[in-house]
Amino acid sequence: MIKRPRRLRGSENLRKMVRETRVDKASLIYPIFVKDGSGIKEEIPSMEGQYRYSVDRLSYALEEIREAGVRAVMLFGIPEHKDEQASQAYAADGVIQRALREAKRTFPELYYITDVCLCEYTSHGHCGMLCGQEVDNDPTLRVLAKTALSHVQAGADMVAPSDMMDGRVAAIRQILDENQFTGTPIMSYAVKYASGFYAPFRDAADSAPAFGNRRSYQMDYHNSREGIKEVLLDEEEGADIIMVKPALSYLDMVVKVKEATNLPVAAYSVSGEYAMIKAAAGKGWIDERSIVCETAVAAFRAGVHSYLTYYAKELAGYMDEGLIG
Ligand code: PBG
Repeated sequence: MIKRPRRLRGSENLRKMVRETRVDKASLIYPIFVKDGSGIKEEIPSMEGQYRYSVDRLSYALEEIREAGVRAVMLFGIPEHKDEQASQAYAADGVIQRALREAKRTFPELYYITDVCLCEYTSHGHCGMLCGQEVDNDPTLRVLAKTALSHVQAGADMVAPSDMMDGRVAAIRQILDENQFTGTPIMSYAVKYASGFYAPFRDAADSAPAFGNRRSYQMDYHNSREGIKEVLLDEEEGADIIMVKPALSYLDMVVKVKEATNLPVAAYSVSGEYAMIKAAAGKGWIDERSIVCETAVAAFRAGVHSYLTYYAKELAGYMDEGLIG
């Protein structure tokens, strides 16, 4: 036999030498939930090992992240008060705005991205302003833009709109530019599907819609060309990074998005992906470390440049141990 693929699998040194996909801690982004109140560090029942922190406890979380060697976080806010206008989303003393000021003061070396959406802040749990039972696109854009601006004014390094309204990237780019934040990037949740994988997050953020569902704004998972349409629109509107979400069931989209754009591509391994691994590992049915490594490397093999995951700290540790790398 002349060609023997096994020759290149003969030793660990050789396997690592010819490895096609390399992973690096610098690509990881860790999502954190910040809640109004004080003295809070509470575990999220559907996301074992993940917590909600009040602003005064946030530095514990940031310290752990820095110790693990993760450099970037994505902040989600859980306000005490929700209303129809989502007024806490853009309040100067809202939970995210206070969290940003505190985080930038205590851990200025980390990179802070904020999720820009209204579902955590509206009394009805939808991602935009309502007109009757409908989510009203254009009036929502002003509120999203105001929210993004307030995050950047409070210190956000990057904003990430996840609402799926049409035209939101343009609206956010315009307000940031008008306020001299021309250098602040936008990571667009461009290819975001209406997905059952977000259920644990909605428990965590208390953001499940009070009626209906999100299918009139998030994408139908039967579609892939529609995802490319979203990418091209967001690129035209000024997006700097494109995100695909969820990750694991949508890696085909990562490959297609990379063919369609030269912008960097991120994928978000969402709460349901995390919860499934935790639950099965808790039962002893799978080995948590192997599955976490395998699913993360799959995203990088598909081509992501950045990877958002609740397992960021663990993955950084596995890289240190040489389990993946
Ligand atoms: C806000 C938002 C959601 C997620 C990120 N931003 C929830 C949703 O769209 O319902 C989900 C993240 C996760 O499941 O980990 N719109």
